[in-house]
Amino acid sequence: MSKAKKKKKKENATIVGLQWGDEGKGKIVDYLADDFEAVARFNGGSNAGHTIVIGRERHVFHLLPSGAPKGKELLIGPGVAVDPVVLSEEVALLAGRVTQLDLRVDGRCTLVTPLEKVMDVAIEEMRGARPLGTTRRGVGPAYAMRALRLAPRAIDIFSDNFDFNSARTFHRFLSEPPPSISEWLSLSRKVLKGKLGDVASRVAELNEEGKAVIFEGSQGTLLDVFFGTYPYVTGAPTIANYAAAGLGISTNTDVLGVLKCYTTRVGAGPFPTEIRGRVGEKIREVGKEYGATTGRPRRVGWLDLVALRYAVRLNGVKELALSKVDVLEHVKELKVCAAYRLDGREIEDFYEALSRIEDVKPVYRELKPLLHAEMTDGRFPRTVESFIELLEEELKARISLVSYGEERSRTIER
Ligand code: IMP
Ligand code: MG
Repeated sequence: MSKAKKKKKKENATIVGLQWGDEGKGKIVDYLADDFEAVARFNGGSNAGHTIVIGRERHVFHLLPSGAPKGKELLIGPGVAVDPVVLSEEVALLAGRVTQLDLRVDGRCTLVTPLEKVMDVAIEEMRGARPLGTTRRGVGPAYAMRALRLAPRAIDIFSDNFDFNSARTFHRFLSEPPPSISEWLSLSRKVLKGKLGDVASRVAELNEEGKAVIFEGSQGTLLDVFFGTYPYVTGAPTIANYAAAGLGISTNTDVLGVLKCYTTRVGAGPFPTEIRGRVGEKIREVGKEYGATTGRPRRVGWLDLVALRYAVRLNGVKELALSKVDVLEHVKELKVCAAYRLDGREIEDFYEALSRIEDVKPVYRELKPLLHAEMTDGRFPRTVESFIELLEEELKARISLVSYGEERSRTIER
C-alpha cells in the first residue's frame, strides 16, 4: 500500500485554554469528540465549569470530561482533585440519559474532603481585603494538602490505612473545629465503588488498540499555578504539557489552544485589558459571561496579544480554536492589545511585565468592528476573516476551528 493511502493513525490531542478560563473548551471538546474513543481530564477539579449546549439542553460539567453528552469513555487522571459529592451529582444527572456511563477515576486522584472546602473559605477570609476570589470548591487546599501528604487518594478510602486524624489535627490550626467526615466517607465510597482504576495504563491500552484520547484541560494558561498571574491563579498546572504528567503518560501530543475573541476573568487579579463601563457590560450580556460554577459576573476585556503570545509558546500551540465570534458582532468597537506600556517603555514580553502586571497599561490597536457579520454560504464576511487572519499572523498559529454561537452546530472548520 502506498504511503498516501495508508490511513493515518489517529493521535491523542490536548485541548487547553489560552486565557483565564472560559474560552469555550467544553464546546470544542464536544465538537471534536466523534473522532476519539475517550475524553480524559488531567487537571483541576470541580472549580471548572464546562458548558455544552445541545438544542435546548444546556449541560454544565464541573468534574466529568466533556465527552459525557456523546457517551464517550470518560477518564479522570491522577492530576485531578476529585470531589466525590460533585461527582455523585453529575453521575446522577447523566443516569437515564447516557445508556451506560463509562467512567474510570484513577485511584491515585486526590480527594477533596469537607476539610478542604472549609479551608478554602477560611483562607480567603484570612486574606482580608485581598482575597483571590476562589470558587470555594476546595481545589487549591486539596492540592496543598496533597503536597503536605495529608489528603487521601481515592484508593485510600477503601482501606483503613489512611490517617485522617492528622488532617483533622492540622485543620484545627485554622482555629475551627474540623467538620465531620464520616458522612462524606460513606457517600464517597458509594460513588467511587467499582469506578477506580489505572487511567495511565488505560490510555496506553486504548492507544495500543489504535484508539485516540482527548486530553481536556480545565481553567486557562494564565491561571497556571507556576506560569500564570500568581498568586491570582488556581491550585494546579494548566499548561498542555501537564496533560502527560496529570495522566501518567510519557508523551506529549499536538495541542489545540482555545481562545475567545475577547477576554474574561472571574475572580480577583490583574487584568490589563479590562473594559470598564458600557461596552464591557454589553459584551457580558450578549456573551452570557457569568461563571458556570459560581454564577459571578465575569470581568470582560479586549484580546491581549502579549498574554496570548506567551500562552501560545508555553503550550506549544500550532492550531487554535477561536470562540464567540458572534458576540462581537453586536459591539461597535474592536481593539486588541499589541503591547504594554510601563514607565514610558513598551513591553511585548509577558514575562518581563509579570512582576509589575498590575501597573501596565495596554497599547491598543483599533480594528474594524465585526458589526452585522452574518455568514453567507458557510463563509464569514470580510471583516471577520481579516480579524482571524490578523490573529493568525500575530500568534503564528492556524485558526482551524471557529465557533460562532453556543449551540453545538455553530462551529466551522477552516
Ligand atoms: P480556585 O481554582 O477555586 O482556587 O480559584 C482560583 C482562581 O481561579 C479564581 O479567580 C477562580 O475564579 C479561577 N478559576 C478557577 N477555575 C476556573 C474556571 O474553570 N474558569 C474560570 N476561572 C476559574
Ligand atoms: Mg468555565
